[in-house]
Amino acid sequence: MKYPNDIMSKVLYTEDQIILKAKELAERINADYDGKPLTIVCTLKGATFFFADLMKYININCNIEFIKASSYVGNTTMTIGNVQISNVMNFVIENRDILIVEDIVDTGLTCDKLFEYFRKHNCASVNVCTLLDKPSRRQVGIIPKYCGYEIEDEFVIGYGLDYNESYRNIPCVGIINKKYI
Ligand code: PRP
Repeated sequence: MKYPNDIMSKVLYTEDQIILKAKELAERINADYDGKPLTIVCTLKGATFFFADLMKYININCNIEFIKASSYVGNTTMTIGNVQISNVMNFVIENRDILIVEDIVDTGLTCDKLFEYFRKHNCASVNVCTLLDKPSRRQVGIIPKYCGYEIEDEFVIGYGLDYNESYRNIPCVGIINKKYI
């Protein structure tokens, strides 16, 4: 069954715009981390699309890793404060510069937990590169070092972002039509 044509009430960013933004952010990352022991960490599942775009333009030596960080549960659009993290035990953190790649920073609780975890395991530094930032919803003092777009407090889907696990594979970011919530 195809997604309804009106699943988005508004398209915010097209694939072309996002790819250009990924290139722009990658150029900054290349300059900032050149010569450093960089590990770029993709958070599953939402960040995978943006991560793939970003990585095509990263041209410095780095490791890539994947972790699962979950805050939204089931068919709710609210964040659950109890963030779950998995797969972080399987790679070297000590003395590495960690760059977390996110699709969205919302309350900031996921990043906050991840920052805490990486710092506890003696990373050299930890920062975040996010496609989208919703600063109006922040509950903790996380400021993404690299940010594609700041957005209003709307529920967005597409380009990795889901509603109840659907719509991740829509090739643009847009606001979900409220009639489907
Ligand atoms: C989303 C998103 C971020 C997090 C941001 O992940 O990918 O990791 O929520 O929200 P926060 O700033 O309020 O913590 P989600 O838990 O929905 O998992 P998913 O990536 O698998 O969709």
